[in-house]
Amino acid sequence: MIIGLPKESRQDECRVALTPEAIKKLCKKGFQIRVERLAGEKAGFPDSAYQMDGVELVDSESVWRSDILLKVHRPSETEMPRMKKGSLLVSLMEPYLRDGFFEKLASQGVDSVSMELIPRTSRAQSMDVLSSQANIAGYRAVLEAASHYGRFLPLMMTSAGSSKPAKVMILGVGVAGLQAIATAKRMGAVVEAYDIRADVREQIQSLGAKVVDLDVGEEGSGQGGYAKELSEEGKKKQQALLTERLKKCDVIISTANIPGRRAPILISEEAVQGMRPGSVIVDMAAANGGNCPLSEPDRIVVKYGVKIIGWVNYPSLVPTDSSHFYANNLVSLLSLMVEDQAGKPEIRYNLEDDIINAALVTYQGQVRLKK
Ligand SMILES: NC(=O)c1ccc[n+]([C@@H]2O[C@H](COP(=O)([O-])OP(=O)(O)OC[C@H]3O[C@@H](n4cnc5c(N)ncnc54)[C@H](O)[C@@H]3O)[C@@H](O)[C@H]2O)c1
Repeated sequence: MIIGLPKESRQDECRVALTPEAIKKLCKKGFQIRVERLAGEKAGFPDSAYQMDGVELVDSESVWRSDILLKVHRPSETEMPRMKKGSLLVSLMEPYLRDGFFEKLASQGVDSVSMELIPRTSRAQSMDVLSSQANIAGYRAVLEAASHYGRFLPLMMTSAGSSKPAKVMILGVGVAGLQAIATAKRMGAVVEAYDIRADVREQIQSLGAKVVDLDVGEEGSGQGGYAKELSEEGKKKQQALLTERLKKCDVIISTANIPGRRAPILISEEAVQGMRPGSVIVDMAAANGGNCPLSEPDRIVVKYGVKIIGWVNYPSLVPTDSSHFYANNLVSLLSLMVEDQAGKPEIRYNLEDDIINAALVTYQGQVRLKK
């Protein structure tokens, strides 16, 4: 059975789905691997790093004819027709976009697994790309803030003068938010954090940050550990209460999201207007509508003297380690799906398995995604 590793075609993507280390593990399971030339170049893995027994460096035409395709992003319109009937595609798939992509995959007879739909359970932890990549994103977002902030994050006392530590606010304390707290703390900032889910209090405190309590009059925890959307009244109350707090911050890292919905607006224009010029906002929800209505995807804008960073792909800015984690997640998933058939690996689609059942989005010509 042949696994293909295509080069990511999106211009902004520096990650690669398999590292040489991950490929070694798959070769041990009996897979043969086709790596498209230059696939790992931007992630810090030149073609020479992939040269090993069981691996063939190939051109684009040949890689797409593999039995299993492992990617970071879903294939483009031009790449899709190159996949053969009966092949398996595993990648991030943007399952909340209803743009006919899955129908096309199914009609082509391609089975596919969406890595975003791996359940957030303890058993599936080693395959959880949302967590592995959000962790990196939270770290990198703080570095972005620090490099665009014209002052120090830590307290500085020098013979040439001193400066106070920056006040950093983290909005939304999921995986990215927790890592952002930890990173900002390590850099010496004074950190506070807010989330609509009350059960993150202890996690915030355990990282040494201050919990921001706001009484919005509603419980924010929804299904599966995620937040639920507030009522219109709750949203207004939350924004009003936050606006006054945010005016006093030097740096805001906002990560608040609700799967499949527009990101909640937490940083109002009034809050931005009230912040000190030179302050920085990193809106990590920019791709999903933004936590700040002034942010723009993949741009830095300056409003009222405040820099608002709207990058949408933080893991790609740390491509070597992001690829390393992503590849490990893929190897864990394949380990669950592979069966040894007389010394040869075969893929088994066990629909009784909650992980496979949740993440298998097209199978045998059918779209399995819930409407
Ligand atoms: N293996 C596991 O068990 C596992 C692994 C990873 C994550 N999780 C859980 O999954 C959940 C989601 O984590 P995630 O990192 O994907 O989150 P996410 O990216 O979906 O959202 C980020 C954060 O934004 C918060 N948020 C949403 N709306 C908000 C609002 N109006 N105001 C303030 N905050 C708001 C959410 O509560 C969440 O903490 C968490 O409960 C996390 O603990 C479990």
